[in-house]
Amino acid sequence: MTSLSFFPMLSFLFFLIFSFSWVTSAHTHESFLQCLDSQNSHSISKLIYTPINSSYSSILQFSIQNLRFNTSSTPKPLVIVTPTNISHIQAAIICSQKHGMQIRIRSGGHDYEGLSYVSTFSFVVIDLINLRTINVNAENKTAWVQSGVTIGEVYYRIAEKSRTLAFPASVCPTVGVGGHFSGGGYGMLMRKYGLAADHIIDAQLVDVKGRILDRESMGEDLFWAIRGGGGNTFGVVIAWKISLVSAPPTVTVFNVQRTLEQNASKLVHRWQFVADKLHEDLFIRIILNRVNSTEEGKSNTTIQASFNSLFLGGIDRLLPLIQDSFPELGLVKEDCIEMSWIQSVLYFDGFPSNSSLDVLLDRTPSTRRNFKAKSDYVKEPIPELGLEGIWERFFDKDINTPILIFSPYGGKMSEISESSIPFPHRAGNIYKIQHLIYWDEEGIVATKRHISWIRRLYSYLAPYVSKTPRAAYVNYRDLDIGINNHAGNTSYRQASIWGLKYFKNNFDRLVRVKTAVDPANFFRNEQSIPPLSSW
Ligand SMILES: Cc1cc2nc3c(=O)[nH]c(=O)nc-3n(C[C@H](O)[C@H](O)[C@H](O)COP(=O)(O)OP(=O)(O)OC[C@H]3O[C@@H](n4cnc5c(N)ncnc54)[C@H](O)[C@@H]3O)c2cc1C
Ligand SMILES: *[C@@H]1O[C@H](CO)[C@@H](O)[C@H](O)[C@H]1NC(C)=O
Ligand SMILES: *[C@@H]1O[C@H](CO)[C@@H](O)[C@H](O)[C@H]1NC(C)=O
Ligand SMILES: *[C@@H]1O[C@H](CO)[C@@H](O)[C@H](O)[C@H]1NC(C)=O
Ligand SMILES: *[C@@H]1O[C@H](CO)[C@@H](O)[C@H](O)[C@H]1NC(C)=O
Ligand SMILES: *[C@@H]1O[C@H](CO)[C@@H](O)[C@H](O)[C@H]1NC(C)=O
Ligand SMILES: *[C@@H]1O[C@H](CO)[C@@H](O)[C@H](O)[C@H]1NC(C)=O
Ligand SMILES: *[C@@H]1O[C@H](CO)[C@@H](O)[C@H](O)[C@H]1NC(C)=O
Ligand SMILES: *[C@@H]1O[C@H](CO)[C@@H](O)[C@H](O)[C@H]1NC(C)=O
Ligand SMILES: *[C@@H]1O[C@H](CO)[C@@H](O)[C@H](O)[C@H]1NC(C)=O
Repeated sequence: MTSLSFFPMLSFLFFLIFSFSWVTSAHTHESFLQCLDSQNSHSISKLIYTPINSSYSSILQFSIQNLRFNTSSTPKPLVIVTPTNISHIQAAIICSQKHGMQIRIRSGGHDYEGLSYVSTFSFVVIDLINLRTINVNAENKTAWVQSGVTIGEVYYRIAEKSRTLAFPASVCPTVGVGGHFSGGGYGMLMRKYGLAADHIIDAQLVDVKGRILDRESMGEDLFWAIRGGGGNTFGVVIAWKISLVSAPPTVTVFNVQRTLEQNASKLVHRWQFVADKLHEDLFIRIILNRVNSTEEGKSNTTIQASFNSLFLGGIDRLLPLIQDSFPELGLVKEDCIEMSWIQSVLYFDGFPSNSSLDVLLDRTPSTRRNFKAKSDYVKEPIPELGLEGIWERFFDKDINTPILIFSPYGGKMSEISESSIPFPHRAGNIYKIQHLIYWDEEGIVATKRHISWIRRLYSYLAPYVSKTPRAAYVNYRDLDIGINNHAGNTSYRQASIWGLKYFKNNFDRLVRVKTAVDPANFFRNEQSIPPLSSW
């Protein structure tokens, strides 16, 4: 079982199971709703949506980021709860257990496989969209952020207080901190400061018994596990306390683009030898895509490599650094723009330079499409011939929008130990690859064609990337690399297939923590850490 809407037979089967479970579970979900009501002194009925409520669909669809899961055959929750108070979350947790419902927690809804709002069980979505408080303490360089906020809102509130404070998290501002911090979370500041999860200093969580815990009361094992061990596994995170980092008043950005005709292959090849060794103030990632170029009036399809970069300093310091370490790029002063760190956030998300910072408060991404993604870690430079095999696959006329993103490691990432938090991909990695395929055409045939393309690219890359395990990033969720038994009694062996890829040697400690805090495996999804008791 891989993708829910992938095989016609499977999705039909899921549809049947779902329709059937709707009928049989109508009773359970009525009891669940009554239980919610009785648990709360003040009624929460205005925060509850079932398919009979006219706004059910719009609430559900609002945070669906991957349109692959915005179809009529995608299994839907029986109930959506949008808590405004922790007591609502406690009630939802207690009542779901009492009445045999599974829960899915949703913050920003960016899960690549839709796991925060899709399940084949009778399920309830706890949508944290109303938990949106952010308190920035500029004096002590900390902030408390509730898990329903997006990282763009966090960046905005930090900038409101200070233009020289920042936070090392997602490039994309609409990502929710509930899922993002639960899986690590990286962005353009990664080589200087590491991951978002490396900067979490406290948290508030509701556990399976409905208790509200903070760092002290949850203990260091559980506090370790929630900083990267994946969402929907240990409890509902209500809020995170983060430590902020410094940004210089002026940063420099550039986006140098080279096509194959402009030596892109040689440059990408060369980049692999310098990207992780550059000064830690300098982050140069590569975005590869397919473009139409018009040379001499003739249109031609080619590959474009965009060297997309943030430097924590001014142009005058940047140019000699590049001249020293990566002169082949041919960077000139005219390619570079100086701005504040917060403006660079807008720049890397593709907003025009005169945009108002208010765009960071918009929770809806500018475009939403169907997509499938995968990830890989690279420890040895890929030879030029290997890169050319990628370009060949990009030229496939049957697919819509292929993209690869190479994000350099090294710097701070190499200094943090592999077991510091559950995210294990540290020293020894030159860069991470994100494989992406986007398309707009609706229907199973297009879905199948594009997913099969990205699987073939993934197979092709096997000789060039990390092995035993072939490592992957949990925030780039990929159900192709293995899933749990839906009944919840997943074996260690079964879960370790995907678990070792995401967490390497941290997987065992995650299993021990899970066993201690949620032995009955109430918080679960297709790729959540299983407890020992369920083997
Ligand atoms: C357009 C786009 C751009 C992205 N860019 C980046 C990037 O630059 N860097 C990067 O590192 N990643 C990036 N990601 C990946 C992103 O970090 C993950 O998808 C992340 O898990 C999303 O978090 P969310 O809250 O938005 O998603 P959700 O789908 O709401 O949640 C993801 C998972 O976490 C669980 N969860 C959510 N909230 C909670 C909570 N409060 N308590 C417990 N569990 C919870 C969910 O149940 C689900 O399993 C991007 C994703 C997209 C779609
Ligand atoms: C959904 O419908 C029920 C039953 O009519 C009602 O009690 C509830 O308040 C509605 N929910 C919202 C959010 O309006
Ligand atoms: C999701 O699907 C619904 C129903 O088909 C549609 O109205 C809505 O526009 C879709 N969402 C997006 C972002 O395309
Ligand atoms: C949450 O509920 C508790 C207990 O019912 C109440 O004391 C508190 O004021 C509520 N908080 C908010 C923010 O509504
Ligand atoms: C910052 O921390 C110090 C020491 O803990 C404390 O005394 C001070 O009140 C804090 N400042 C703010 C604004 O919270
Ligand atoms: C490509 O590289 C070759 C040498 O490797 C060089 O002679 C040529 O000028 C380069 N072309 C461009 C467009 O940079
Ligand atoms: C490139 O050209 C092809 C064929 O002319 C066309 O179908 C495609 O839409 C173009 N792509 C872009 C990004 O312009
Ligand atoms: C298109 O680009 C390819 C790859 O560089 C090249 O071999 C080919 O000659 C180009 N075709 C045209 C019509 O320019
Ligand atoms: C930014 O500039 C463009 C073109 O100059 C203009 O069309 C647009 O309205 C401007 N936007 C803002 C927010 O000022
Ligand atoms: C475990 O899962 C299997 C299906 O793989 C099921 O037959 C069995 O009853 C389950 N056992 C328990 C204890 O839930």
